Amino acid sequence: MKLLVTGGAGFIGSNFVRHVLAAHPEDSVVNLDKLTYAGNPANLEDVAHDPRYRFVQGDICDATVVRDALKGVDAVVNMAACTHVDRSLMEPDEFLRTDVFGVFTLLEAVRELKIPRLLHISTDEVYGSVERGSSRESDPLRPSNPYSASKAGGDLLALAYWQTHKTPVVITRSSNNFGPYQYPEKVIPLFITNAVDDQPLPLYGDGKNVRDWLYVLDNCAAIDLVLRKGKEGEVYNIGGGHEVENIVLTRQILKLAGKPETLITPVKDRPGHDRRYSLDAKKVQQLGWAPRHKFGDALATTVAWYRAREAWWRPLKSGEFRAYYAKQYGAR
Ligand code: NAD
Ligand code: DAU
Repeated sequence: MKLLVTGGAGFIGSNFVRHVLAAHPEDSVVNLDKLTYAGNPANLEDVAHDPRYRFVQGDICDATVVRDALKGVDAVVNMAACTHVDRSLMEPDEFLRTDVFGVFTLLEAVRELKIPRLLHISTDEVYGSVERGSSRESDPLRPSNPYSASKAGGDLLALAYWQTHKTPVVITRSSNNFGPYQYPEKVIPLFITNAVDDQPLPLYGDGKNVRDWLYVLDNCAAIDLVLRKGKEGEVYNIGGGHEVENIVLTRQILKLAGKPETLITPVKDRPGHDRRYSLDAKKVQQLGWAPRHKFGDALATTVAWYRAREAWWRPLKSGEFRAYYAKQYGAR
């Protein structure tokens, strides 16, 4: 299979490209990525010279670039997105552009060029906060921040193209991912790297918000399965099945990093902060998927990875990140 992966220089994208090249020796991958602050060619330097891999720098909102990249492709996996909720509160414009208009551009090109499959990567955040029970694929979408609203827009547009034009779309909605190569603005890598530097860990509100954690390699395996076996026009939830309050997660990270709990610093809550996400993942399980990594082991592996890879994350925490961090948490 010849794949176009968009956003392949980001966190999940780079793990997915590596997964495909290793798991499917007959496959090749074109990675179309704009290289925003979150895109990093270093995430894929180990496969950069693989003859089955090609990188193209470009924007999914640019119809010419997209059509060009789609030539001869059997399937597209759309991972390109603006992804950080806090940034969407400060600068929502780019979220609407990439996460809605970018999806539209891809859908139009896939329709016109008759590409056999578009797997669109959505998120559990589109269901909004879930006080009780778990979200099923048929539940209504109730996003509550500009990021999740933009993702819901792209998700619904993809489903509308299936209804209207029979554009061969499949969607995954996954829970919170963690693991190697995650940009250190997201809570797990931010807290690990701050802990390494004995910096405060800014915990929002009462710390009792719940996220369902999924190791990124388990998500890659699920995406791969849905890509090859998922039914057109269908949505598949991918949940890690490990729900935990942020305060509990924070203590676990500090324990693994060998740092004191005095680093935990309660800060003002995120506006519109969703209390809990929870996915019912039976549908993808029926397709043959189950998470293979135990949460505790995967978190320990992740902490060890960041400790060993300072050369990867230190440059990311300077420059653009420092300016963002100062705006978000106040200058230190
Ligand atoms: P990321 O922020 O690490 O990477 C996003 C990538 O997209 C970057 O490489 C960036 O350069 C690229 N990009 C951004 N705008 C682009 C544009 N206009 N054109 C081309 N490339 C562009 O994101 P991630 O955490 O790896 O998330 C990947 C996908 O998975 C996103 O669609 C996200 O909404 C979804 N998702 C993420 C999580 C999670 O926990 N990280 C959970 C569920 C769903
Ligand atoms: O649920 C899937 C989503 O998970 C993805 O769609 C998003 O792209 C991804 O960013 C992530 O969104 P969250 O908002 O859940 O992730 P984040 O790492 O920003 O925050 C996780 C939890 O930790 C959340 O309850 C907010 C809290 N938090 C976060 C940061 C950055 C803190 O307490 N302090 C922080 O500094």
